[in-house]
Amino acid sequence: MPEDLGLYLSFLHPLLMGSLLAGSGYALFLGIKAKKARTGTPEERKQLLKGKFAQRHYLIGSLVLVVMVGGSIGGMAVTYLNNGKLFVGPHLLVGLAMTGLIALAAGLSPLMQQGNLIARKAHVGLNMLVMSLFLWQTASGLQILNKIWTER
Ligand code: HEM
Ligand code: HEM
Repeated sequence: MPEDLGLYLSFLHPLLMGSLLAGSGYALFLGIKAKKARTGTPEERKQLLKGKFAQRHYLIGSLVLVVMVGGSIGGMAVTYLNNGKLFVGPHLLVGLAMTGLIALAAGLSPLMQQGNLIARKAHVGLNMLVMSLFLWQTASGLQILNKIWTER
């Protein structure tokens, strides 16, 4: 493999995941609006339903799911290409945990659409955990990036 390619790929994953952090924030915003559209006063609901927040949240949420699964596996692929092995460290383990958690949260979609309250609470709880881990993942990711850059 050309040497430069490995280095470029090492930057692709952080860029992709950085945009994903922004995308997750947007999904959170849409989710909160969707909740307001469901539980607000009749006047608020009438106004908010026009925004189709639940549908938009489902769409952006699905995109976040796709990019997280792809980006996580991609990160492992890049690490493997560059080092011939994976480093079983916090960034790998937390990354896999986040990917698993968001998949669980997404799998609750049909139940949420039937109005299942427990599924809703679990979905929000799981995804809040994902969002918190994301901040930690950004810190450990930037450390790895710094190491790659200084040792290149
Ligand atoms: C960053 C990730 C995500 C966050 C922070 C998030 C957050 C939320 C919040 C706050 C709600 C409103 C709950 C309520 O009404 O009480 C919600 C609802 C929902 N979410 Fe997510 N979510 C995320 C990702 C996803 C993904 C990946 C999917 C599916 C692929 C998804 C599908 C749904 C659905 C179907 C609902 C129900 C909407 C409705 O009221 O019909 N979400 N989410
Ligand atoms: C903005 C945030 C992030 C930054 C700056 C970042 C940075 C990095 C870097 C530099 C690598 C090493 C690539 C190489 O060896 O060349 C890496 C690997 C990896 N990343 Fe990320 N990452 C971020 C977010 C994420 C997220 C959100 C996930 C998963 C949900 C994730 C999962 C992984 C995995 C599984 C690996 C391979 C294992 C390892 O090298 O430790 N990363 N990341």
